Amino acid sequence: MSIRPIIEPFRIKSVEPIRSTTREQRQKLIEEAGYNLFLVDSEAILIDLLTDSGTSAMSTEQWAAMMRGDESYAGSPSFTRFRNSIQSIFGFRHVIPAHQGRAAERILFNVMCKKGDIVPNNTHFDTTRANCEFVGAQAVDLPIPEAREPAHLHPFKGNMDTARLTELIEREGAKKIPLVMLTVTNNSGGGQPVSLANIRDVKQICKKHGIPLYLDACRYAENAYFIKLREPGCAAKTPREIAREMFSYADGCTMSAKKDGLANIGGFLCTNDDALAQQEKDLLILTEGFPTYGGLAGRDLDAIAVGLNEALEEDYLHYRIASTAFLGNHIAAQGVPIVQPPGGHAIYIDARAFLPQIPVSQFPGVALAVELYLEGGIRSVEIGTLMFGEHATMDLVRLAIPRRVYTQSHIEYVVEVILDGWRRREKISGYQLVHHAPFLRHFTARLKPLSR
Ligand SMILES: Cc1ncc(COP(=O)(O)O)c(C=O)c1O
Repeated sequence: MSIRPIIEPFRIKSVEPIRSTTREQRQKLIEEAGYNLFLVDSEAILIDLLTDSGTSAMSTEQWAAMMRGDESYAGSPSFTRFRNSIQSIFGFRHVIPAHQGRAAERILFNVMCKKGDIVPNNTHFDTTRANCEFVGAQAVDLPIPEAREPAHLHPFKGNMDTARLTELIEREGAKKIPLVMLTVTNNSGGGQPVSLANIRDVKQICKKHGIPLYLDACRYAENAYFIKLREPGCAAKTPREIAREMFSYADGCTMSAKKDGLANIGGFLCTNDDALAQQEKDLLILTEGFPTYGGLAGRDLDAIAVGLNEALEEDYLHYRIASTAFLGNHIAAQGVPIVQPPGGHAIYIDARAFLPQIPVSQFPGVALAVELYLEGGIRSVEIGTLMFGEHATMDLVRLAIPRRVYTQSHIEYVVEVILDGWRRREKISGYQLVHHAPFLRHFTARLKPLSR
């Protein structure tokens, strides 16, 4: 297969050294970390693909904007620039800043949900699920059936199953469903996009039953670009026009600016509902800060204001999506089972298919993530039985690509390390959990190898 190399649409002005370790050093470090890559110091990582969240390289324009940041407690012009930038893309009446996505989620669910409620989503991200369950509501995932089959090719695998949504609303009653959410792109489901048609259909169902629709908008720009590439009739539209249309069907959104905000921290909550916005701002003051900064520095608000626009530039999106696909297509060409087609921000390896000898109860995703670290100093993350417990339907290893950080040669190195692991896959064995916390256990869990 001929896969064309990607030219990064930027040049490098400031460099950050990364360090190699030996396999023996990594063996010791991972053992000390209880075989949990979250507990390994980043200085002992060569290529860090743990997350694309908060790990972006900022542009010269963003650094310049940070210098303009105004740190006034109330009514800062940085907030005005932040709000204007968001409203020009997202179009919502109220913009409520928060220190990151989960803070927006916590406020949203506290204000909109109560015990016994149900919140459908294509697939809840782990913090979304945890925040929803924390207020006593039930987080229900309704992906299309194709999303559960990693090898299945579908242009919009992030879509929600609208028949199941209708059936859920009719069975439970609209009163128990305070909102429906759509995560764009669907992170836990493989970084797969949601089509405009699906957003429109979900909105119609919601409207019929008087239920508001919220987007979890973290990767809205990548989702918009996939729509441009794949949805009939959208090729001539700009990513900005598509993003505007996506949001036009929603009543609000949560956003982690650490993804398509191209910022290192920040988030926001939007709504068109005046009464809800008031309650949300009241709660914001209690835990995040005054509504014109929401736990962020003025300079962060300015960096986000610029980053949200840069994320919609076509040159950038072309490189971003092509670079991720380069990694996915190269390993898939050698037989490595990945979630197909490659997602926007990450490649997800199907660990159950990669390591069929390891039962689900022995965390095949953890086993593969540890192997990639031992083999090449690469940090990835398990999205499966360790992260979701009994809710896990797949065991994936996510290789999330930080935005504008790694070059083509870094990506080629990652391809080589994965292929080395693939060649010696039969020698890899499973893990046993020895400690875990009641919520979001993957962050702090400790494990031990079963036999080595
Ligand atoms: C889809 C999705 N929603 C919500 C969040 C939470 O955002 P944050 O990490 O900024 O709290 C994330 C973070 O990875 C995410 O991917």
